[in-house]
Amino acid sequence: EQIKKGNYDYYMQKEIHEQPDSLTTTMRGRLIRGGGDNVKGVLLGGLKDHLRTIRRSRRILFIGCGTSYHAGLATRALVEELSGVPVTMELASDLLDRQGPIYREDTAFFVSQSGETADTLQALEYARSCGALCVGVTNTVGSAIARGTHFGVHINAGCEIGVASTKAYTSQIAAMTMIALALGEDTLSSRSRREAIIDDLFNLPDNVKEVLKLDYDMKNLAQELMEEQSLLVFGRGYNYATALEGALKVKEVALMHSEGILAGEMKHGPLALVDETLPIIVIATRDATCSKQQSVIQQLQARKGRLIVMCSKGDADLMCPNGGCRVIEVPQLQDCLQPIINIVPFQLLAYHLTVLRGFNVDQPRNLAKSVTTS
Ligand code: AGP
Repeated sequence: EQIKKGNYDYYMQKEIHEQPDSLTTTMRGRLIRGGGDNVKGVLLGGLKDHLRTIRRSRRILFIGCGTSYHAGLATRALVEELSGVPVTMELASDLLDRQGPIYREDTAFFVSQSGETADTLQALEYARSCGALCVGVTNTVGSAIARGTHFGVHINAGCEIGVASTKAYTSQIAAMTMIALALGEDTLSSRSRREAIIDDLFNLPDNVKEVLKLDYDMKNLAQELMEEQSLLVFGRGYNYATALEGALKVKEVALMHSEGILAGEMKHGPLALVDETLPIIVIATRDATCSKQQSVIQQLQARKGRLIVMCSKGDADLMCPNGGCRVIEVPQLQDCLQPIINIVPFQLLAYHLTVLRGFNVDQPRNLAKSVTTS
């Protein structure tokens, strides 16, 4: 067992730190650098014969549970932007509870690390019975979801043992970003956008290495927060998913109440919670929503909120002009890839909080790696 953990104390810790490699494996052989006769692009073997059919769908559905649902949410906007097809998000259990309508003209993506999650599997059976085209995005070759879908994309993140999903999440986002790029490959008007994303996918492993250097800072932050009862995380746009996923990590392993909140909803209730004691992480890296996040920070500061601001490197003074907040600076990539960078400090924070609070890192109480009952 110790050999498998290498120099690390826990699988979760190892899996967090191996993300530069797992992301490299996810992208290996799938990115075309361009130059000579080659057009810069992506090649997804499992999908290439079906791209036209997916583009012609009436809508796309992303279906999953927990972290896998969040990975879909993180890529929803890009798939809509590059394919022009509306994307509906579905938590598998909720879709089943209400027997939501699914049509023959729909393409449903089933996102699952294990490929065995009972709710996602039942949602797949349901979508198939409705006649939808079903696509798998899994980490487990030969899993029930990989077998039950019409075709799919393997995320190749390598075996994930810690119950808290870390490297599978970032690889799911990378794989689904490549799916979005493939769906958009025929559209001339998005060419420069797609090329910029591909360039940054090549840069991704080095940038993840860079953000992993925050390990020590996140340990310090964990020391500061370890006695707290609760933590809020505000995100929006691409990083609404980061807020939900960051809060889920803290909740499931550190056993601390933590809530991811869409920053646009702040004034519709959560603002009432703000005081000088409740720690709040605001994700405000550079993108189209960043000026709105700036105003969220100002409003929270006006109410003397205890703020921790995640921003792009060099933006600390801009995002926190009055000082008084703790800042986490991260490398900046294309907006759609930022959730991959931004989740890493949360993974590190959740890990250190768990160790400091004395809980089981790899096997949180009451949870199983693969939820095979519904
Ligand atoms: C992630 O940290 C959780 N343990 C959990 O939410 C998980 O993502 C969910 O159960 C779905 O699992 P799957 O990806 O294997 O389908």
